Order: sequence, then structure tokens, then C-alpha cells
Amino acid sequence: MDSKRKARIIGTGTYLPSKILKNSDLEKVVETSDEWIVTRTGMRERRIASETEYSSTMGLIASKDAIKNAGIKAEDIELIVVATATPDYIFPSTATVIQSGLEGCKAPAFDIQAACAGFLYGLSIVRSYIESGMYKHVLLVASEKLSSIVNYKDRATCVLFGDGAAACVVSAEGKGLQINDICLGADGGPAETLGVIAGGCRHPSSEETVKNDMHYLTMNGQEVFKNAVRCMESMTNNCLDKLAIKPDDISWFVPHQANIRIIEALSKRLGIPDERIFKTIHKYGNTSASSVPIALHELLQKHTIDTGELLLFTAFGAGLTYASSVLEQINH
Ligand code: ACO
Repeated sequence: MDSKRKARIIGTGTYLPSKILKNSDLEKVVETSDEWIVTRTGMRERRIASETEYSSTMGLIASKDAIKNAGIKAEDIELIVVATATPDYIFPSTATVIQSGLEGCKAPAFDIQAACAGFLYGLSIVRSYIESGMYKHVLLVASEKLSSIVNYKDRATCVLFGDGAAACVVSAEGKGLQINDICLGADGGPAETLGVIAGGCRHPSSEETVKNDMHYLTMNGQEVFKNAVRCMESMTNNCLDKLAIKPDDISWFVPHQANIRIIEALSKRLGIPDERIFKTIHKYGNTSASSVPIALHELLQKHTIDTGELLLFTAFGAGLTYASSVLEQINH
């Protein structure tokens, strides 16, 4: 490892499908109400990909946006890593499909799977490639078409999820958000807590798996809720302690956008005031791996981050996996 070389995000991009699914639309599909969804989750609407939009096509648009905003060319990208729980195929990887759409790019490409924590897990991987000196510019993409695995007959889950993609260019040099640290964790548990049970080698697709709705996402909401707050709090404290900083030192907190009550419980425990939390949950719902980088891109568009200011990311997802990261705006 080259100890002086510090990875930083030098450009971000997003893609959100144009179709909007409002709470009032869901009222027509399942027995629910706008009032229940808003008070229990903080969500008002979410984006839904069309039949011809996939994790690869959304990720490709977000990638082009990020590459342009980084001020580099697709041919400068030396590695592509895609975090997704909804890949186009079991294989080939969504990363290789995205690479085929980036003119001039012949970078190696692979997917990773850490559900909603996928972007932060991915950030830790690409950071290591940069800081080892192996690559100079890496493209990290998070893209999800969750509507393809959501059961629109199950009111407990169908109100929660939306589609969307985000990408960022992580580099060895340039102005941007330097990754000061990332802490990762996992509490391996049963897939039934949060998962898609069929379609893999344990339950290959069959008439029976289709009949039993086993290709849809299932979740024990209360179990996930409880663990989410606990895991993100401990991982965040871990990360802050390692850097010897306090929540007061953080300018912006960008948490995974899974439920407004999770965000509020977590920020209360951490002591981060509401005005320093960046939220997109009301308009996009939970976009899994894409949630933190979509929020990051919007934060950077709306607010100037001065040199030395710190951002805190945290996420959790199926597995259960979780992660926190502190980034610092640098000017060189
Ligand atoms: N509309 C109306 N009523 C509903 C709905 C709905 N959409 N969904 C559930 N209910 C009902 C339930 O049936 C239950 O009724 P009952 O009391 O008559 O049995 C009642 O509301 C309460 O249900 P709970 O499950 O206790 O509701 P809760 O307050 O826990 O909220 C929720 C449910 C929103 C799912 C919450 O548990 C949660 O957010 N959990 C975490 C989810 C999450 O973060 N998932 C992340 C996934 S990340 C990834 O990796 C993909």
C-alpha cells in the first residue's frame, strides 16, 4: 500500500426513472393509506423503472453522468464495480453489461452483493484498489430495479421500495471527497429475515417457487428495524472513534433511506440534529444500494461543501450487512 495515496470521490451522477408511484396509487393496489405510509415510513412517492429500463441501463446513464462530472473520459476508467441486489442476470455481471455501453472503456468489471450496504462495501473495495496503487480511476455504480422483485400484493413491503441508480468516480488524485475511513460489519442470519428465497441454487426456479411467490422480496420488518438502528449506531461510533472525531464534527449525515423512523432513531442516538441530515426518502423511498449515492449526488448539487468539511455515510441491508464511512472535502 502507498500510505500517501488517498482515494477520493471526484464525480457523481444519478439516474431516476421518470415514472412516479405515489402513495395514492398504492391505495388502489393494496389495503393501505397515504397517512399510514407517511407516518410509518416517511415515504410519499417512489420512482419505478419501465419494462425496458434495467439495473444496467439505469447504471449506465448514471455512470456517464459521473464520468462527465469527474472531468475524465470513459477510456480513463480502469475498473468497474457494481453494487446491486437486482442484477440484470445471475450472470454475466451487470458491471460487464455497463462496460459494453461505455465507449472506449475496456476496464475489468464485476458485481458485488451486500444488499442496501452495497455502495459502502463497494466503496471500501475500490478505495483499496486506488490506495494500493493498482488503479488511478475506478467507477463505482449502484443500481437497483427493486420493482422487479417486489410483491405488489404484499402491503408490508410494496410501499417501501423504489428504483434508481447512482455512480461515482473514485480516483487517486483531484478535488473531491476523500475517504478518511470505512468500517464494515455483518451479522449473518436467516435469508427469511430479509431476502429473495428462490432463483439461486438452493431453490432453483420451478413452477412451485413461482406459485409460492418465492421470487419476491420477503422481510420481517420489525426484526430488520430493530437491528438496523443498533448496527448502524455501533458501526458509526466505531468509525468516529477510529478517527477520533465526534458527531458535532460532521457537516452532513447521509444515511441509508429505508425508513424515516430508523433515520430519526439513529440520529437521536448519535446526537446529530435534523438540519444536518440529508433525506430523499419522501420522494424516492428505499432504493437499496443506490440510496446513499443518490442522496450524496443531490446533496452535492444543492450545497457547497467547503474544504475540510466532513460527511458521514451509513447503511444496512440484507445479510444483515452494515457499514459507515467518513469523508472529507479536499481541494487538491
Ligand atoms: N398499510 C397499512 N397497514 C399496514 C401496512 C401498510 N402498507 N403494512 C403493514 N400494515 C399493518 C400490519 O398488517 C399491522 O397490522 P396489525 O396490527 O393489524 O397486524 C400494522 O400495520 C403494524 O405492522 P408492523 O409491521 O408492526 O408496522 P411497523 O410499525 O413495524 O412498520 C415497517 C412496518 C414500515 C415495514 C417497519 O417495520 C420498517 O420500516 N422496517 C424496516 C424495513 C427496512 O428498513 N427494510 C430495509 C430493507 S433494506 C434491503 O436490504 C433491501
